[in-house]
Amino acid sequence: MLQSLNSPRPVRGLYERVSRVIPPIEWPVFEPDIEAILELKKRRDAVILAHNYMTPEIFHCVADVVGDSLALAREAARIDASVIVMAGVHFMAETVKLLNPGKTVLIPDPLAGCSLAESITAADVRALRLRHPGVPIVAYVNTSAAVKAEVDICCTSANARKVVESLGARRVVMLPDKYLAANVAKETEVEIIPWDGACIVHERFSGPDVRQLREDHPGVVVLAHPECPPDVLDEADFAGSTAQMSAYVGRNKPSRVVLLTECSMSDNVAVAHPDVDFVRPCNLCPHMKRITLPAIRRALETMRTEVTIDPALAARARLAVERMVAL
Ligand code: 13P
Ligand code: SF4
Repeated sequence: MLQSLNSPRPVRGLYERVSRVIPPIEWPVFEPDIEAILELKKRRDAVILAHNYMTPEIFHCVADVVGDSLALAREAARIDASVIVMAGVHFMAETVKLLNPGKTVLIPDPLAGCSLAESITAADVRALRLRHPGVPIVAYVNTSAAVKAEVDICCTSANARKVVESLGARRVVMLPDKYLAANVAKETEVEIIPWDGACIVHERFSGPDVRQLREDHPGVVVLAHPECPPDVLDEADFAGSTAQMSAYVGRNKPSRVVLLTECSMSDNVAVAHPDVDFVRPCNLCPHMKRITLPAIRRALETMRTEVTIDPALAARARLAVERMVAL
């Protein structure tokens, strides 16, 4: 027990914040870990960055910075704590390390991967260069540092079209998500050469799903992530990154909405919008779900698993991320 009996309990008041999405019966399970994590953050001079797909007890109760991949990369560049815990998947922790080479970056579970990042290797990118000489290569941030080291610039779902058009090229290789590539191709004059990767969460949504949702929930506003297949985006009312979907709900306050993305998104956005009815078909990301309160607590207690990247490779990968952040 880290907390002395007489000092104020830091978790007091936190339950009200999440009471719409966490049943009271579950709260006592989370409370001891939340209390320990808040104390450990102070002791270790640590901050927790959390992606929008983290469960609400992480997102709303222990995270210091939350957001989509772009926001987390931007914020990572400004952090002055000595330890950064990435509550997200491995490529996100690597991106944080690239932007903070002198800091200790921890990932609570190193097996938290990503089907997109796993779909392509550095050798694949070198082969693409040979096949398409002179054509710039854009990598989605959902890639390993080794892949980032081989490309010209990174992008996220929030800025993909802007990044592609910033290169001033007639043709661009865009990897690894074939659906993000196809969705950007529909919005730009630039010819996009895709790679054959897909997100296991978003590839499962389909255009007929959207039509069925509209039939079952009349008036529902449909928001979709650009990793969904193009027929989903054709049927949706809005497409954007996780942060852009959240901002859409805040701006437009639809009376009923569905977010076609990972399940925790709706919970996290619902906390701030008690007046919005969230329809909840969603797909779980098994990688994101490896990050739990006990895993975060263990990371801070043991200072593991530390993310390390070979310095020479990191220098090249950092350039691609920094070019994107500079845009
Ligand atoms: P965002 O950049 O929109 O947060 O997406 C990250 C991700 O992994 C989506 O599956
Ligand atoms: Fe990767 Fe998809 Fe999971 Fe995002 S939701 S981390 S893209 S597998």
